[in-house]
Amino acid sequence: MINRDGNTFFLSTKKSTLILRINEVGKPICEYYGHRVPSTTPEAAFTKPEMMMGRSVAYDKTKSEQICLNDLALEISTPLKGDTHAPSLILRSEDSVVFDFTFAEAQIGEAKLMEGYPTPRGASEELVLALEDKALLAKAELHYVVYEEEDVIGRYVVIENGNDKSFDIEKAMSMQLVLEDKGFELVSHYSNWTGEFSVEQQPLFHNRIEFGSNTGSSGDDHNPFFYLKAKGCSLHHGEVYGFNLIYSGNHLEQIEKDNYGKVRILQGISPLNFRKTLAKGEKFITPMAVMTYSEEGLNGMAHQFHDFVNGHVIPEEFSYVTRPICYNNWEATYAKFNEGKIHALIKKAEKMGIELFVLDDGWFGHRDDDKSSLGDYNVYKKKLPHEISGLSAYVHKHNMKFGLWFEPEAISVDSDLFRAHPEYVMRDKLHNPSEGRNQLLLDLTNPEVREYLFKQLKSTIGPAQIDYIKWDYNRIFSDVPADNGTYMHDYILGLYDLLNKVRAEFPNLMMENCASGGGRNDLGMFSYFCQGWVSDDTDSYERGKIQTAMAMGYPQSVLSNHVSAKTNHQLLRKTSLGTKFDVASIGVLGYELDITKLDPIDEREIKNQITYYKENRYLFQFGRFDLLQELEEGALIYQVSDGKNAEVVYMNNLQTTHSGIETLVPVNLDSSLTYNYKVRHEEIDFKRFGSLINQVTPIHLKEEGKLVNFISRRWGYGTEKFEGEISGDMLLGGALKLPRQWAGTGMNEYTRIILDFGARIYRISPTK
Ligand code: GLA
Repeated sequence: MINRDGNTFFLSTKKSTLILRINEVGKPICEYYGHRVPSTTPEAAFTKPEMMMGRSVAYDKTKSEQICLNDLALEISTPLKGDTHAPSLILRSEDSVVFDFTFAEAQIGEAKLMEGYPTPRGASEELVLALEDKALLAKAELHYVVYEEEDVIGRYVVIENGNDKSFDIEKAMSMQLVLEDKGFELVSHYSNWTGEFSVEQQPLFHNRIEFGSNTGSSGDDHNPFFYLKAKGCSLHHGEVYGFNLIYSGNHLEQIEKDNYGKVRILQGISPLNFRKTLAKGEKFITPMAVMTYSEEGLNGMAHQFHDFVNGHVIPEEFSYVTRPICYNNWEATYAKFNEGKIHALIKKAEKMGIELFVLDDGWFGHRDDDKSSLGDYNVYKKKLPHEISGLSAYVHKHNMKFGLWFEPEAISVDSDLFRAHPEYVMRDKLHNPSEGRNQLLLDLTNPEVREYLFKQLKSTIGPAQIDYIKWDYNRIFSDVPADNGTYMHDYILGLYDLLNKVRAEFPNLMMENCASGGGRNDLGMFSYFCQGWVSDDTDSYERGKIQTAMAMGYPQSVLSNHVSAKTNHQLLRKTSLGTKFDVASIGVLGYELDITKLDPIDEREIKNQITYYKENRYLFQFGRFDLLQELEEGALIYQVSDGKNAEVVYMNNLQTTHSGIETLVPVNLDSSLTYNYKVRHEEIDFKRFGSLINQVTPIHLKEEGKLVNFISRRWGYGTEKFEGEISGDMLLGGALKLPRQWAGTGMNEYTRIILDFGARIYRISPTK
């Protein structure tokens, strides 16, 4: 709901209110952003009294002797009129570098589509504050888009030139918000290949913190999702402000606590390698940034972002639609496969209950490794003599959907496409372009290249009846041409244009976003893709950390999680398949290990996992996500629930011999009901007991002997006993104790053999 009272605007969502005011000198300022308040007595919120601070300059003495821009909670800022913080806008014309925007008019109405960008659908309302610089005939519109039910407010800026002379935009942030410091700590996420969503938490000092990405894509270096925790904010309680950007390219975040304690938050396209010249009548639109306020702690923020993404961002065809369990051959075969091997995997996948079979990289051109053929999406006949359509038919015959890997934006030098069209490549005029993973990027700013790619995709997807594609993107930008100041941005608009075409042609095609893992998981991409490959790191312990950090801003329905081989390929860390499933379960489940080579015990385990997941798939993918305990406290605990049922994942950190009594304290259940609680059953490899096994066997067994190996491939030791009934009151009150972990001093049927980095999943459901 948006209300206007004179020069004051109230933007209210279900639980929050943002109050904006046009002040005495025509500057829009933020007077309040916090829990929902009524639209009455706004004066109480106004900054008072205005007062010149220190050595500042009076902005306009004819209107007020006391107003200096430096002290205002400005909603937009340009330099050199008294505001010395990081500006949200830097413009430069031949005549002036002082662009001074003041209020012209306001409009409240239906939200508009943003030209060139994905726009979250179904907004409640939009406020547009139109500002102008009368001397320069420049305009700036501040757009505030309200998503009332989800407590999210979107914000973007449109800059327009009305002057005969052009001007340059050197920096144009989507978001500027100024808050009084509430003892904030900033939580941001730095990322590397296999190290996505590493959490960085830091207090704010009197300086400026900057982070972002300049690699050409959003998720490298730092993801655009971040938040500010007020003092006292915990997982379930306290105030937090969350931010994100609906954009897939370079971005910058600046958090500046000034010397008077105000905190300025800026977010938008990175100004590095960015200069947009606007001729008369031309406009530039920034991408939309989004913010949310919660006083229900980090989980409250997560719920709001989840509802927003699931309901407004994800393509409508997939909004709240359950995703299939997938099998992907990558870690099983890499690029070394043939039709026989793939057929064997398909047959096995069907038997195990898989619903979508995905053929990954290596099916086209003459691609045996990552050195060739990107760009030539014609089948590699030596590997797949019956073509993709033959394979697709085979998969469909085995009652699964069929998915295929592409890396449309890249090109190998060793490819027919490169030989025919070297001019399609992203490069500057003077230097040889640098290769990354043996490949170059295509110039997506060129409509001819986009058309070529669209035709290639269409001619494969359509005839072969492909149900799903994994869209990969495996290198950063380099060698950007100089002739266009916004090349890196235009590339992203080109990418959106291509994705729009693909979605329009194949609206029901499922698409998984991938950039060597999570190098480009952002709200721009999730406007086209219903899920994203979270990380190339499939080690469950690492994944637990990455997934839960990502889940603070993105719903688990977009987290594509695969169970991989017991000895993980990225770290060589060994964890059980049970643990891998437990950690992967909250999200979209998949498998990528060689299922044709499973021991009987592992085959049983995977079948059980798939059955378990199917029984409660909606909860796993769309239930309310809550982080219950952080890893630093000894174990990472998180859950999904629907108010009556919950699945709780427990992931151990390092085991100790002196772990105390632990309790399981779920949330979001009904205290008036009686509950069953039960650990998911798995068989524990009894080789983990080493030579201790001899304490219970009548004959002596060699630790790695043939007999031990034979038995352990077939039978395991049962999970600890943990099953029973409990009242909702007791459960929510924290009375449910977990069995003790193995501590080296004997064991019984209740002893939890969970080990370093091991996991469990607990089902909690009403007795009737
Ligand atoms: C990237 C992806 C992997 C796999 C390979 C194929 O690394 O993240 O999942 O698809 O490419 O080359």
